[in-house]
Amino acid sequence: MSEFKPLVFSGVQPTGNLHLGNYLGAIRKFVALQDNNDCMYCVVDLHALTAQLVHEDMRGQIRSITAAFLAAGIDPKRHIVFNQSQVPQHAELAWIFNCVARIGWMNRMTQFKDKAGKDREQASLGLYAYPSLMAADILVYRATHVPVGEDQKQHLELTRDIAMKFNMDFMEKIRPTGLGVDITVGDEPVHAYFPMVEPLIDGPAPRVMSLKDGSKKMSKSDPSDLSRINLMDDSEAISRKIRKAKTDPDALPSEVDGLKCRPEADNLVGIFAALADKTKAEVLTEFGGQQFSVFKPALVELAVEVLAPINAEMRRLMDDPGHIDAVLRDGGERARARAEKTMTEIRDIIGFVR
Ligand code: TRP
Repeated sequence: MSEFKPLVFSGVQPTGNLHLGNYLGAIRKFVALQDNNDCMYCVVDLHALTAQLVHEDMRGQIRSITAAFLAAGIDPKRHIVFNQSQVPQHAELAWIFNCVARIGWMNRMTQFKDKAGKDREQASLGLYAYPSLMAADILVYRATHVPVGEDQKQHLELTRDIAMKFNMDFMEKIRPTGLGVDITVGDEPVHAYFPMVEPLIDGPAPRVMSLKDGSKKMSKSDPSDLSRINLMDDSEAISRKIRKAKTDPDALPSEVDGLKCRPEADNLVGIFAALADKTKAEVLTEFGGQQFSVFKPALVELAVEVLAPINAEMRRLMDDPGHIDAVLRDGGERARARAEKTMTEIRDIIGFVR
């Protein structure tokens, strides 16, 4: 049985400043995956229009995400780093997927319900179709593996539903082209044009919570800047935010169980573990019984050690926007070549005249 060629694809929206949660949850995973995989990392600027049409500094935001990718160690020569709008084939395939996906499927998307809020009539049509464009981002390269956060799982299930419906509806048109791949889905043999993508959700990535409230996710939209560590924060800011982070009066426990019902302690231990590439248990072996007055300075030292080089490199890159744009242009060109090959095949499968 032949198989789809493994390809890793992921996207990050160019909105707001990247913070520690984005780094530990996404970008660090992207970096780790590049050793053994062909990878494409995309700044999804078209998606950024879905919630807010006019952005004060769209270009700066796109460059800043790109700078973070590069500063964290993604190699744009061996892999592809680009922004979505440079590859119009994403939008073209998204249109086709709008005609594949059913309204009933879209109505189940929890992210749409959350983002649209109470007044759904006022949400953009783009916000509604967001998951269809996301499926196109992935499938226009027939990518097989997608590193994402837990919150994107439902969108990846929809991506599989779209791929499956396209495969089934067009199966007899795909077969004579010789472009399909024999796969089994469940027990069923399918001659598929699109792969069934797999989410890469596990791994060391912790849920990084707010430094001011251990029950809320660290977020770029939190009004308090003290609640998050931004990738653009310098050492002084990192140190100040950790020193001011909310804690409880007790010493750290020696066992992970002791972190239950102590969300702030749990969060700081989790951040330490993630930054040190250790388990929480290992961190508590070292710090169990210690007060935060001992633990926090150790966390500051570690956070600065890991983040300061990334921060310095990001600043250096941001001072040379011409270089960032050149990286995106090169990535865009290579991505476009791949995407156009797929779209030519899809146009043929559907039966458009060319
Ligand atoms: N929806 C993703 C998020 O908010 C971003 C995204 C857009 C994406 N297209 C993608 C992620 C394709 C993975 C693959 O995190």
